[in-house]
Order: sequence, then structure tokens, then C-alpha cells
Amino acid sequence: MVWTPKAAAIAREAGARLREFFAQGVETEYKGDVDLVTVADRTVEKLIRGRLAEVFPEHGVYGEEGTRERMEGEFRWYVDPLDGTTNFAHGFPQFCVSMGLEQRPQGTSATGDGHIVAGVIYDPLRDELYTAERNLGAWLNGKRLHVSRTKELAESLVSTGFPSRKRHESPNIHFYHEFTLRSHGVRRAGSAALDLAFVAAGRLEAFWEFNLNPWDTAAGILLVEEAGGRITDFAGRPFQLNSREVLASNGLIHAELVGLFEDLFAGRNLAPIPTPREFAERRAEQAAAKG
Ligand code: IPD
Ligand code: CA
Ligand code: CA
Repeated sequence: MVWTPKAAAIAREAGARLREFFAQGVETEYKGDVDLVTVADRTVEKLIRGRLAEVFPEHGVYGEEGTRERMEGEFRWYVDPLDGTTNFAHGFPQFCVSMGLEQRPQGTSATGDGHIVAGVIYDPLRDELYTAERNLGAWLNGKRLHVSRTKELAESLVSTGFPSRKRHESPNIHFYHEFTLRSHGVRRAGSAALDLAFVAAGRLEAFWEFNLNPWDTAAGILLVEEAGGRITDFAGRPFQLNSREVLASNGLIHAELVGLFEDLFAGRNLAPIPTPREFAERRAEQAAAKG
């Protein structure tokens, strides 16, 4: 292993810090709409940024809470110091640290145009450390991971997530509905990185989401691939780190999922649901019409 032993030590330290904040409870601020942030997000990103600079001084860092360092280099870490902030802020025990390493073409600083070569996800409450390196495999606490062997969506447990910005513009509720009817169930546990890690570990057959960011997916997509699964967009095309759609699966149900996405995009009214304000206005109009 080239990168993951040192990165895993950083993720463990970061996770220990998150555990302390979680135990003591933290104030919540709003970044916008229902997009939450806490002192834990910022403190832990700073910790990771400092440790990465000590251990991999040449590597760039691109963090959710604003870190942009050494953006011209050959290697860049995408860091989510706390994936699952809403859970964390409510005391719901599902969150993690996620760090994915991209090897990048020369002469560009754009996001996501290289390929991921290492990933580490640490779940501090379960003390579960997921690691992967390109072509070397994926591991959970040192044990080799393999995706599940389930062959049909009808026998699958799947998961998704919803954005915390502009929620009313997302069509995902329609997909949530269909997948719920066609599978053993859809989980919405609130940490995309752990959702991907769970696909790699065979605990879920698939995961999809619209509009994730590279810090959410960088580590998890490599885990899934190295555990034998597949990652594409909803049309089955190769996933790019800056793609706005991610579809991860055990590979065996992937074609069925892509077919279902195609049918749903073609055949359903995917209009966004009305906002609470639009609902209220509609109700007021109905009441006025009744007299
Ligand atoms: C969020 C989580 C959630 C997903 C959201 C993400 P954050 O990340 O991964 O599961 O549905 O789209 O923004 O804000 O907790 O780091
Ligand atoms: Ca995140
Ligand atoms: Ca985050």
C-alpha cells in the first residue's frame, strides 16, 4: 500500500475528534436553506489539512469547508471532514470522515479530471475503517471487501440521498418512490460516503444520488470498484468525479438499474413537488373558491 496507511492514521485522528464533538454536542449554523455546518466540520477539516501537509507535502487538498491548497500538483485529496452533518447535529449516529486521492493530468487545476488512486473512509462510532488503493483491493478493518452477489433489484436493499440546497428542484422523490416499490427497501441514512462504503461491503446492493460533490464520492467510488462493483452515471456512462449523477451497484443489478432510470426519465412526470409556500397558496385558493 502506498498512501492508505498514512491517510488512515489521519482519518482515525479526525474521527476521534468528531467522536468528542459528538459526545459533547455542538451548535449548528446554517450555510443556507437546510444546509447545516458546525464547529466540528471546520475544526476537523483544519486538522486534516495540517496533517496532510506534514505527511504528503506535495499533495493538494480540496475540502468541503473551503480548503484549496496546492491545486496545480499531480495529486489532490478531496476531503469531507464530516459527511453526515445533519445526522451529527441531531445526535443521529451515522457520519464519517472521507478522503479520496486523485492523480491528475499535468497543466490543469480543474476539479475531477484525473482518476482516483486511493480512498479512506472512517466511521468513528462503529470504529470501521475502509481503505482502497487502485488495483490493490478494498478493505474494512484489514479484511478484504466484496460487493454482494444479489442478482435482482427485487431482492436488493438500496439507498439514496437528497440535497440540502434547492431541495424542491430535485426530482429524486419520484425515483425514491419507484425504487421503494421495486426492492426490499430504500434507505436514506444521510451519509453518501458511508452509503458507498456499504455497497462495497455488500450491506447494500446499490446507491444513487443527484448532485453530489467530489468530496462526497472520491473515496467511496474507489471502494466500490475495488470491491468488484460498478460506478456510472444514470445512463450507464463512465462516472466522472465532477459528474452530477452517481449510480453505484454490485455490478450484477447495474443493467437493470440503468434500464429503470431510462424508463423513469422517459415515462414519468418528474416535475418538482410544490414548495411548502406553494402548497399554502394552493390551499388558500381552494378555501377562497369554496367561499
Ligand atoms: C451530505 C450527505 C447526505 C447527502 C447530501 C450530502 P454533508 O453531505 O452525504 O447523505 O444526501 O447530498 O450533501 O453535507 O453531510 O457533508
Ligand atoms: Ca458530504
Ligand atoms: Ca461535510
